[in-house]
Amino acid sequence: MRVAGVSSASRSGDRGPQVAVVGGGVVGWAIAWRCAVRGLSVTVHDPAPGSGASTVAAGMLAPVAEASFGETALTGLLVASAARWPAFAAELTAASGTDLGYRTEGTLIVGLTGDDLTEVRRLGAYQQGLGLPVTLLRPSGLRDREPALAPRVRGGAFAAGDHQVDPRRLLPALRTAAERAGAALVTEPVGRLGDLTAPAVVVAAGCGTAALTGLPVRPVKGQILRLRAPGGGPPGFRHVVRGYADGEPVYVVPRSDGEVVVGATVEERADPTVTAGAVLRLLRAAVGLLPELAEYDLVETTAGFRPGTPDNAPVIGVLPGRPGVLVAAGHHRHGIVLAPVTADLVADLLVTGIPDALLAPFAPDRFDPPVGSVTGP
Ligand code: GLY
Repeated sequence: MRVAGVSSASRSGDRGPQVAVVGGGVVGWAIAWRCAVRGLSVTVHDPAPGSGASTVAAGMLAPVAEASFGETALTGLLVASAARWPAFAAELTAASGTDLGYRTEGTLIVGLTGDDLTEVRRLGAYQQGLGLPVTLLRPSGLRDREPALAPRVRGGAFAAGDHQVDPRRLLPALRTAAERAGAALVTEPVGRLGDLTAPAVVVAAGCGTAALTGLPVRPVKGQILRLRAPGGGPPGFRHVVRGYADGEPVYVVPRSDGEVVVGATVEERADPTVTAGAVLRLLRAAVGLLPELAEYDLVETTAGFRPGTPDNAPVIGVLPGRPGVLVAAGHHRHGIVLAPVTADLVADLLVTGIPDALLAPFAPDRFDPPVGSVTGP
């Protein structure tokens, strides 16, 4: 089966693009890049590229720390994509000439109180049961690794393979690489998929995917903070630190340029308000784990929207009843880590017509009967 009649061996040349990607976020540009380097002619359609979840995201590449009860298929995809990240980052750095802020120190998962530690251990036991690489650590072992941790921290775990990248470097790097490989941006809004003339369309429109396809992708609000280390230097800690502080989940992501990302709320809301209560809870939890953060500048408070699906997993594959339309959306908390596997497997599918077995649990038709396309032909 060929998905949409596209082939790297038969470029369309001046007959127009072979692949139209709707959505200029990390997933959309990654797909465009991977398709373009395979010789496909690609357009990316977005009136405001990068205005969705991509530049709000913290950039954790965390298949272990994000492994949640009942989400084993999703965890498998996270692991597969995280394994691609080192080569993906190296290739993208070379193709774009951009430092991605890709860091491999790993992630500490910690509990501030005894109850918090119980939760960290409960999750750690589940993650170890799946065979994921996570090592439980005593407080002394944690502080040997990260002396900036609060003396009160009761214990935790180390996920050495949970890395990070800076999405605000990643996004322009992907765009540069895609454009250098021949992809072109089109800024006219796409009101309906029928407006596009390319033989293959990939909907990677994040929360906008629902309106274009009828698939159940909804906004899941996240409030997130950006701090800056005083004096212009790097933060006083190197690892991603996440876990619980007095029952509050929090993550703290240090960048080499001095930025520290503190996140994030998870709210079934669609308003863009940043609330004092959320900022208070996030800062209290973050400072509880890393006291030096109290002295940092608070430089940004943002609310963004994760594209969530009913089972928290992405939708990747052919839209039911629309053989020329692929969907790559609903990445929820995982758009950054899942970008390589999504882009590679969508490009494979477009070129070969054969979906990789990895994609089987994520096919759009699992939401069958479809909610109904609102776009028409
Ligand atoms: N990936 C972390 C978050 O969505 O908050």
